[in-house]
Amino acid sequence: MKNTLSGHPETLGPVTAGVPDRIKTPPARRAEAAPKPGVAETAAPSKVFHFDLRPQAIARHLDRFVIGQREAKKVLSVALCDHFQHVRMAQEGKSTPHYQKQNVLLLGPTGVGKTHLIRSAAELIGVPFVKADATKFSETGYVGGDVDDLVRDLYRRSGNDPKKAEHGIIYLDEVDKLATRMPGAGRDVSGRGVQTNLLKLMEDGDIPLVSPNDMTGQLQTAMAAMRGGAPAVDTLNTRHILFIVSGAFSGIADLIRKRLLLSREVGTKKGGRKLAEAQVKRDPTQRLDDVDWLLARMTTPDLIEYGLEPEFIGRLPVRVACHGLDEEDLFDVLRKSESSLIRQYEQAFAAYDIQVEFRDDGLRRLAQLAGAEATGARGLMTICERVFRDLKFRLPTSRVKQFTVTASMVDNPVAELRKLLAAKR
Ligand SMILES: Nc1ncnc2c1ncn2[C@@H]1O[C@H](COP(=O)(O)OP(=O)(O)OP(=O)(O)O)[C@@H](O)[C@H]1O
Ligand SMILES: [Mg+2]
Repeated sequence: MKNTLSGHPETLGPVTAGVPDRIKTPPARRAEAAPKPGVAETAAPSKVFHFDLRPQAIARHLDRFVIGQREAKKVLSVALCDHFQHVRMAQEGKSTPHYQKQNVLLLGPTGVGKTHLIRSAAELIGVPFVKADATKFSETGYVGGDVDDLVRDLYRRSGNDPKKAEHGIIYLDEVDKLATRMPGAGRDVSGRGVQTNLLKLMEDGDIPLVSPNDMTGQLQTAMAAMRGGAPAVDTLNTRHILFIVSGAFSGIADLIRKRLLLSREVGTKKGGRKLAEAQVKRDPTQRLDDVDWLLARMTTPDLIEYGLEPEFIGRLPVRVACHGLDEEDLFDVLRKSESSLIRQYEQAFAAYDIQVEFRDDGLRRLAQLAGAEATGARGLMTICERVFRDLKFRLPTSRVKQFTVTASMVDNPVAELRKLLAAKR
């Protein structure tokens, strides 16, 4: 059966509010063709590609928007610098002949900043960037998309400039859904087919700029060629396109735990799973209940066991896990991140000339409730929506021009709203 799932289009809004002009990218240029569903753009390329960033500068920029994820920031910054320094050198004619691309695999639970990290980094570097969900592709490309469309989208994002497109970033989310032996939700063989189709892109492939399935496109190209206006290039090479893939990989921690336990069992020779388990538990350096600790120990065989093809995994040499966000992290997401949700609320109320002040006890309570949702920072959106629902509905037509978000407001928004309205009657 072919995969008919489609990707969710995700509008990637700017996260560079307040970024100094020196490192701000130009406003996203409209692509000539309408964007495809499931593929989004954050940044238009600058006219000439400049790259003089150092890993720490990228990490510092990411710190402004993404809370925690130190290891992911470090690993990503280094991979991005390696890649784009190589691109710069290649442009200067100093290419390393056998350069191996530093494609990245980012894993971790939902809502902890994986997409946010990549989006923020792509904006900073200012290269063409496309994002899509792996679930929208099928092996044949007849139902669902064809993975080569990613390259064609990158070409459109770069204003049909092959030079720029050849140095872009393709970000593929939900690659864990391509796993054929994923625990729980089995996927048909199409997942393997999609992985195989991606291999060529991830390494060094020449992708036709008009899809063989696109009859209209084929016809237009043929007509343009007849008029003598054929495009200068009809394929795009992917050698310098950086691939970043990500996924939640739920269940992989269990596989890693099992492997660690089994290796202990074999190691002790005395056998007995219980014994091995007890030994591992006694060892304070082993934290078998700690998902973050387990993910940091993930190996290639774990990913193969999970159901990804060895050839696919082999082309993703840089791997890093994002950790879950605890209450303190969520508090900081609200308080410190420049992309904090509270800015959005301040703005929404300011549109009606209402000033809202967030007190720390209010933020703390929001973080506590969001933590219980277990959906990472996305839990903050769920909680805020619930808390501010009635206030957003009622206050714009009231005389209230100012209010404060406290813990008690978070716990009893309706009662607090009543008090606010009564005071202004
Ligand atoms: N560490 C973080 N710091 C600041 N904001 C965050 C962080 N993690 C998530 N967010 C906020 O939550 C939103 C959702 O995060 P994001 O899209 O990065 O999740 P994800 O890790 O890609 O999850 P999924 O696996 O479900 O795609 C972001 O737009 C951002 O506003
Ligand atoms: Mg994501």
